[in-house]
Amino acid sequence: MAALKPSRTELPLQYFLENEYQSLIEIFHWVANLAGSVYTDTTCVVPPEAAYSSVLVSRTHQLSQEFLLNFKRSSLDLGLPLGISGYFGFPARSSLALRQLSEQEDHDNPEQVIKLPPYQNVNASLGVTIRARRSLRQFSGKTMPLQALSTILFYGNGVTGDMAMISEEDDPQWPQYSLGAPEVAHTRAASSGGGLNPISLYLVLQNVETLEDGIYIYLPFEHSLKKVMTFNQQKRKEHLALGLSWGTNVEAAKVNLAIYYVYTVYENSRKYGDMGLIFAVLEAGEIAANIHLVCTATKLASSDMGGWDKVQTERFLGIDGLSKQLVHTTVIGMP
Ligand SMILES: Cc1cc2nc3c(=O)[nH]c(=O)nc-3n(C[C@H](O)[C@H](O)[C@H](O)COP(=O)(O)O)c2cc1C
Repeated sequence: MAALKPSRTELPLQYFLENEYQSLIEIFHWVANLAGSVYTDTTCVVPPEAAYSSVLVSRTHQLSQEFLLNFKRSSLDLGLPLGISGYFGFPARSSLALRQLSEQEDHDNPEQVIKLPPYQNVNASLGVTIRARRSLRQFSGKTMPLQALSTILFYGNGVTGDMAMISEEDDPQWPQYSLGAPEVAHTRAASSGGGLNPISLYLVLQNVETLEDGIYIYLPFEHSLKKVMTFNQQKRKEHLALGLSWGTNVEAAKVNLAIYYVYTVYENSRKYGDMGLIFAVLEAGEIAANIHLVCTATKLASSDMGGWDKVQTERFLGIDGLSKQLVHTTVIGMP
């Protein structure tokens, strides 16, 4: 049987404007989430249709979402418990020690390691700071004091203290013996699944007091920077070109500090399996939150950036995009 053809009804413009337009525009506002942020003009907020409309040009078509939302499909999936069971007792301590040892190896190249000055003791009220925090992307381009960099990195993901790994009490959770001294773990400013800290902060510095512009890595145990390379003309050009993908509202040349959160996959996936990636992304967020609060408290401008070009930026930073993955970006500058 032939399908019935729908009859067409004429909709005069005046009628449309008086009767339909208002409710349609309300739906549009809701869909486009315009009330979500005062920065919608500068933030990529898209209506849900975009998720479908990009299918034809997308190479991954939301594979990442599919993975992230289905990493544990049933209670029979034993990957996580098995991974964790290998971490009881000594292995946990040895993995923490390994992290520190890798930094000590960096120290074997003293010309590449720059000690940071002591951080500023920030004692602003937490409530006031949280209320005052805003993403700010307008930078003056003035020189950033070295102590400001030290303060951001320390409160972002620095080593804040020591924790004894040997219990003198009769606690079965903790070992009573040691194969070496000292048996302490270093506590960090941001929390991390299993204390494995798979996120490293790669920094692109421009116009920071006494430091050459270039790429550095933060070494938390030493509260130092490891110099990866100083900028030549070509490298600076590449950095500014990558800055274009952040959006037109950010002037890359005035960003004193671009923080790239780099996930070293094996640091935590050997324990957490697929869940390692999710932990890493969460942990990058926790570090970023610390950083924004300390920027607010010390009157620096900071904003997260979501638009970075993953492959190009990884190449620029010199990471392989396999065992080391870029997962987040924050830019900071003088107000
Ligand atoms: C993961 C993430 C990505 C973001 N990406 C961008 C960006 O690409 N460009 C930008 O201007 N702001 C970006 N922002 C900042 C948001 O626009 C901002 O947080 C939001 O508008 C709310 O404003 P507020 O941070 O001042 O509260 C991003 C924030 C997050 C958490």
